[in-house]
Amino acid sequence: MIPLVKNVFFKEKGTKKKLCRFIEKTDALSFGKECEKFENSFALWQNRKHAVFFNSGSSANLAILQTLLNLGTIKRGDSVAFSALTWATNVMPIIELGLKAIPVDVEIETLNVSSRTFKSATEKNPIRVLFITHLLGFCGDMEKIQSYCKEKNILILEDTCEALGTVYKGKKLGNFGLASTFSFFAAHHLSTIEGGAVCTDDPKLARMLKIVRAHGWDRNLGEDGQKKIRKEFGVSDSLYAKYTFYDLGYNLRPTEISGFLGNAQLSHLNTIVKKRESNFKKFAEAIYTRTDLYYPIQSNHLDVISNFAFPIICKTKEIRDSIIEACNKKVEIRPIVGGDMTKQPFFKKYMKGSQIINSTSSLIHEQGIYFGNNPDLSNSDIKILISIFSHDYKKN
Ligand SMILES: Cc1ncc(COP(=O)(O)O)c(C=O)c1O
Repeated sequence: MIPLVKNVFFKEKGTKKKLCRFIEKTDALSFGKECEKFENSFALWQNRKHAVFFNSGSSANLAILQTLLNLGTIKRGDSVAFSALTWATNVMPIIELGLKAIPVDVEIETLNVSSRTFKSATEKNPIRVLFITHLLGFCGDMEKIQSYCKEKNILILEDTCEALGTVYKGKKLGNFGLASTFSFFAAHHLSTIEGGAVCTDDPKLARMLKIVRAHGWDRNLGEDGQKKIRKEFGVSDSLYAKYTFYDLGYNLRPTEISGFLGNAQLSHLNTIVKKRESNFKKFAEAIYTRTDLYYPIQSNHLDVISNFAFPIICKTKEIRDSIIEACNKKVEIRPIVGGDMTKQPFFKKYMKGSQIINSTSSLIHEQGIYFGNNPDLSNSDIKILISIFSHDYKKN
């Protein structure tokens, strides 16, 4: 059986050994130097000024919206548009924080929101924020989306949890908006087992993200940052200074174990991206050319494609069902991420009437599947995958 996730880490054995030694020699394993080192290195890798490390990508999504609310950049009731084809915790924080979640349909050629689908969504609703997902390492025409958002004063947040390392028009995804979120869950590009981050160039946002991450207090702002905020709020009582809660927050902190793993895996990230891209190209050449069976997905607009799974959108449900049968006990497959969010019970419960009629997201929900694109796939795994997915299902 070829699983969705072959290994928890790249260079798994060595990484686990190093992790055991690190735990043995480290006293306090709560947020500390390893996490801060990872934040600095990850910001550099991503070409952004700040990276704030979280305990998951879901936490990063929740924190960036809470941060914008705390800063007054957005207010409860504002409309936040999101890609209808995404993961639940891209949408849930929008609803949880009293914002209006507006689904935006995707294009069949890219699986992603385009300037066309976004413009059509804004015709019906005034949008304050576009929280766009770069699904499975692909993206839409981001430069056009960017200029439209600038014209309409719409903030862009990028959920980059599935696209770490993809480069579009010379820029890594996650660099097209005010802030971008990342996931370091084991099945994603870079694993800290569980983990996430928010990247931004805005120092005010980075400061509030750290306050939101840890109880609303100032512990992780550094000495200068603490002096500044205490002065701003007139906090002089030395006993209470460390127990002053400045704004709404949570406890979304990662541990030093995650920080250590982030640092260890980051040194392999370029190799990981290259391997996945090389696998992707082999699969695309053999599988997307079967246009009688599948909708081809475009990647030639990308300078680098970095995905952890290979998506296939079948032309009919019958083809999809034949593939599910052919994969039985041989290849682990699953739907395209979380499918069309507007079909999910939570969305119907809280956002009644917000469905998109006859959407492409719905077609992908019904007819799409993916298998894992791991850097550790062997040549024989790749051969098996290609033979299963390029089989002539129409003749069966
Ligand atoms: C698009 C997207 N956003 C957010 C998340 C949440 O990340 P995490 O699993 O680290 O909480 C995921 C997870 O798969 C995702 O695919």
